[in-house]
Parts: sequence; structure tokens; C-alpha cells
Amino acid sequence: MKAIVVNFLLLFFITGICAQDSHQLWLRKKTAIPVNVICTNKSATATIAIKELQQGWQGKRGANISLLIKKDKALKADGFRLTQSSVEANTELGILYGAFELLRRQQTGQPITEGISNPSYEIRILNHWDNPNGSIERGYAGSSIFWHKDSSLIVTDNDKMLWLEYARANASVGINATVLNNVNASPLMLSAAYLDRVKAIADIFRPYGIKVYLSIKFSSPALLGGLKTADPLDTKVIEWWKEKAREIYSLIPDFGGFLVKASSEGQPGPQDYGRTHADGANLLADAVGKYGGIIMWRAFVYSPNDKDRAKQAYNEFINLDGKFHDNVIIQVKNGPIDFQPREPFSPLFGALKQTSVMPEFQITQEYLGHAEHLVFLSTMWEECLQSDTYQQGPGSTVARCTDGSIYLQKHSAIAGVANIGLDTNWCGHDFAQANWYAFGRLAWNNSLSSDQIADEWIKQTFYPDVTETKISALYSSEWQVNFLAPVKQMMLESREAAVNYMMPLGFHHIMSANEHYGPGPWWAPARMRADWTPPYYHQADSAGVGFNRTNTGSNAVSQYREPLASQFNSVNDCPEIYLLWFHHLPWTYKMKSGKTLWEEICYHYDKGIKQVRQFQKIWDKVQPYVDKERFLSVQRKLRNQTSNAVLWKDACLLYFQQFSHMPIPYEIERPVSNLDEIISNDMRRRR
Ligand code: GCU
Repeated sequence: MKAIVVNFLLLFFITGICAQDSHQLWLRKKTAIPVNVICTNKSATATIAIKELQQGWQGKRGANISLLIKKDKALKADGFRLTQSSVEANTELGILYGAFELLRRQQTGQPITEGISNPSYEIRILNHWDNPNGSIERGYAGSSIFWHKDSSLIVTDNDKMLWLEYARANASVGINATVLNNVNASPLMLSAAYLDRVKAIADIFRPYGIKVYLSIKFSSPALLGGLKTADPLDTKVIEWWKEKAREIYSLIPDFGGFLVKASSEGQPGPQDYGRTHADGANLLADAVGKYGGIIMWRAFVYSPNDKDRAKQAYNEFINLDGKFHDNVIIQVKNGPIDFQPREPFSPLFGALKQTSVMPEFQITQEYLGHAEHLVFLSTMWEECLQSDTYQQGPGSTVARCTDGSIYLQKHSAIAGVANIGLDTNWCGHDFAQANWYAFGRLAWNNSLSSDQIADEWIKQTFYPDVTETKISALYSSEWQVNFLAPVKQMMLESREAAVNYMMPLGFHHIMSANEHYGPGPWWAPARMRADWTPPYYHQADSAGVGFNRTNTGSNAVSQYREPLASQFNSVNDCPEIYLLWFHHLPWTYKMKSGKTLWEEICYHYDKGIKQVRQFQKIWDKVQPYVDKERFLSVQRKLRNQTSNAVLWKDACLLYFQQFSHMPIPYEIERPVSNLDEIISNDMRRRR
């Protein structure tokens, strides 16, 4: 009898799955249960909170929920207090966040226990690398949602609708700020015509608590203002920025501030005038300071001639500690190089003690398979946030060094480079939506586990909308075992799989040039700057492979606080996940497994392929639980991911074998391609 009931429910469940519009993200329409929301506040933000509760309520029919703004010292910024029947906060935005949390708990089956929730970071910001012509640097999900392809600045109804949906999605996970344009910024962005459009965007975002920021080009006073210089100490330049800030704030009184990429990868900066990063950042900080504005100054800097790119950001910034004004935050990428599949944390975290520092993560999968590969990045960010810097003793994690728990930062923030575009599903891959979601959740609570985040996201994104009576039976049995568990396992393993088939054991930057998609360890054209070519990073030769960053090499290890410096320096103590990041080792080096380094490299690549094949099987098996459209799209991408993984393995093993002169272990699948063909196809693609 029990079996019949279960089968009946399953049948109902399967036949009940209709096409889902992936545009709705994790906020899918629900059959709402009536609820009575009591709120005397009539502001736009409170009205949104009321509407969200009425449209998404999955709790007791006819329940009373009161939304209350009242002073509560235990609450920070837009934090909130939840009870069974109320949301309380110091601010309207806190009420909105509390309402979203209540709904999330209902929809994910978490208990609604009384308690408070405070954000880990004051500013939780997306960075869009969008250009005025609608293109997106490292964007894989269509054109910009902010800037039109034909560069027209007319605000259409469609624009407005999209911006509203975007603001709602961000607010639902606590994101409260966004940078609307590329860090490689066009000076145009500060012109009156563009600022009008920025104002239109800000007006739509405001009720959802999203502040807008702009990336600026440091030479704007010259390029846009016609001045002879952009020297940060020049009085005319100082005046120009003050006037620009006044103009912006007169249009957008709650404008967030500027994001700056300066003296980096060809971008102009204070160093062009013999000035420091602090001179440049403080100039801008003074211009926006009186309006409450903030400068996010990026530490992503490196010059073409240095022997070790990984050391440069630390070297340029460490002596400037304490020299920045208190509305400047130094924005530091998670690792010392550039968003690779795996990097140790940047040694700047915790090392800058009198300067606000914020982590920058990359949500768009520039080095992790674009919008083709299923890679859940939450585990990567969790790894970085939970890394112990030891800067103020054990437990000085990156999270605690940046969220104000350890250092008295005037402001705290965290940034994610967005993966959002005009594609119907926003992110190009249905599972890439999980990375946007995960960024928001970790920005709100930097100690959340990836397991919990994946669990929440899957439930909200894939659970079918059946009526309340059927929910519990299905939710607790069939669906959890047959869909939730395997899909979650796949997500949690997916980043390690990508590391295995792309750059295992500390390899980094061995991707093909420019587009950063496939393998390219051989790529090194004459006259190309060395630090843009993979051989600079892998250093393979007949003696071995890996970058020697120990005290016999570049000594990058010394930028880490003990005991890490010694640990990374010692080949025996260095975690194997970072081995070739810090050490150049013979191909015959004996690994902890007893295998040679060469064999271990081979097995890691092979493991990566096996993992992705397993993902394919998992996905094929969950077909009955997913609507056709999303099922087929993910299935197609996983097939592609597997063949890409095979290509990565073949290319890297065949290339490195030229130096190791050792056989690929026989139980590993033979390469199916030949190196010359892979290289010539790569060249052809590039032409
Ligand atoms: C990477 C990326 C660039 C980007 C840069 C940055 O190098 O490839 O497209 O401009 O990072 O973060 O500034």
C-alpha cells in the first residue's frame, strides 16, 4: 500500500512538472497561502516587503505577521529580528531582508526560530564589467542589462522591468550595492548623458536598497574635462573631481562612490605622475567624502617585468598601510594572481592592519569554463574566507580580517564580479545562477556553509510548485533522495572537479590566451609580456615543474605570516593543493600517495574527467524531476563539459610529457587527441 501511495505521488509529481521560466531565478512563483501582514509603515520598501509576504507565504493559513521598525541595539545596520509572528528591524530595509528570510525558511523547510541576523559586511556589492556599448568583459550571458548595444541612452519599459527584477533578486539575498560599468572604465560614464541614465537606474533600485557605484577612469579630468593632467595633487584636478562629485550627488543623493582600477594592465593611475595609490585614492575619497561616498581602490596591480607577479600587490600596498583616508577600501582579489581555479589567499588579507580591506570574488566564470561548465563557486569562496592568515594569532581568517571582527575598519565590504547578462536565465547556465545566489548569501553571512547554500538554492530553484497539502509528503521523501541529495553532491564536488581537469596540484594560469577557456600551457608568442604566458607560471623543463616561490626562489612565501611562511616554504609541509604554486619539483618527486609527481598529475586530470562523467549520470537520472527545458540545457552543457575536460587532460598531459619523458600510467584512459592538432586548432580559433 505504501509503495502504491509513493508511486502515485511520484506520478503526480512528474506529470505536474511544467516548463519553468528560468528567468525567475530562485524566486519562482508560488501558490501563496493567505496571510495577514500588519505594517503601519507605508514606505516603498515596506510595501515591497508586504507584497512579497502575501505572494510567497507558505506558512499557516491566515497567520498574522507584523512588520515593525523599532530601535534594537542588538541589530547592526539592516539586520533583523525574526519571531514566529514578526519581523523587527531598525530600518525599512531590515524589514525587507527579514521578510525574504522568513519566506526562504518556509520554502526550504528550515525552522523559524526566534533570533537575530546581522550582515557580515556593510556593503555587499556586485561589480559589473559592462561597457557603454553593451558588451561585457568576461561576460558569458549576453549583453549588458544596463547599457544598450547601439549605445542609445533612452530608458525603455523593458529596461525598467529588468532593473526591477534584478533589484528584487539582489535584495532577496541581501546584496545592497552594484557597480554599473567595467573596471576598465570609459571616461564617458561620467558625462552628463550617462549620468542621467545612472540616475534612472538608481531611482528604480532605491526601494530595494541597492546603491549604485561607478568605475572611473583615473585620467577622466584630462580625457573628459580637457585638463592638461590628471595628477592627483594638481589643484585643477582636485577641483574637477569635487565638481564632478557635486554634479553626481545632485542627481543621485545616495550615490555609493567609485571603484578604481588604476596603474594596472595599461590603465592610467597616480603612478603616471610619480604619485602613490594613496595619493590617488585620497583625492577621490575627499571628493565624495562629504556626501558619504566611498572609494573602492583595487589592489589588482602588476608590472610586466617583475620576476613574480604573485608578490606585486603586497609589495605595492604594504608600505601604504594607514595612509588611506577612512572612506577608502582596498579591494583585493581572493588570490595573489587572478581568479584561478585554485589559489592560496592573497597575503594582503590581514597584513593591512590600518586600512579597510575587502575581498573581491569572481562570480563570472572567466577561468572556470565560462557559462558552459557547471562549477559551484561557493566552495571556493568558503575556502578563501575560512583560510587562516594567522595575522592576529590562530583564527584570523580572511573572513574575520575583512568583516570588522578583528580590525577596526570604518567600512566593511565584499565584491563579486557579476555573471549577469540579457540571457533569459540571466547567467547563461542554469547552475550559474547558484553562484550569484551564493555570493549574496556569503556576503550576508560569511560563515554559512556551501552545503547549506546549495541546499537552499536547489529547493527554491527546482522544487515544483505543488499545493500545500502535497508539499510535505513529497518534500520529505522522493524528491530529497532522488533529486536534492545527488544534485547537491554534484554541486559541492564541481569546483574540485574543475581544478582536477584544469589546473590540479597548484598549477595556475595555464589556460589558452585571451579568451581564458581551454588549455594552453604552450602559449608564448614572441614579444608577448612574459607574465601573460603560461610558461612563466608552470616553468616546466626536463628537471621538473612548478613555480619556486620558496626562499630559494621568489620568496613569495615570506609575505605570509608564520606558521604559514614556513609551511608553504617546506616541500614536506606545503599542502599538496598548493604544491606547484610554491615549489618547482622533479617529475619523479615522491608524493604522499607514494606515486611520482608525474603520476599524481596524470591521476588528477583523469579524476576530473571521471567526476564530470559522474555529473552527467547524476543529471540524466534526475530527468523526471526537472522541466524539459532546463533538463536539456544542463544535459547539453554537461556533455560539452566532459569533452572539454578530456581536451584539458590530453593537452596538459601530452604537453608536459615532452618534459617529463615519462609514460602516462596505463590504467588511465589514453589521450584521444594529438598535441599538434590541439595546438593548431587552438591557433586557428584565435585567428
Ligand atoms: C583579468 C581579466 C581582465 C580584467 C582584469 C581585472 O585580468 O582577464 O579582463 O580586466 O582581470 O580584474 O581588472
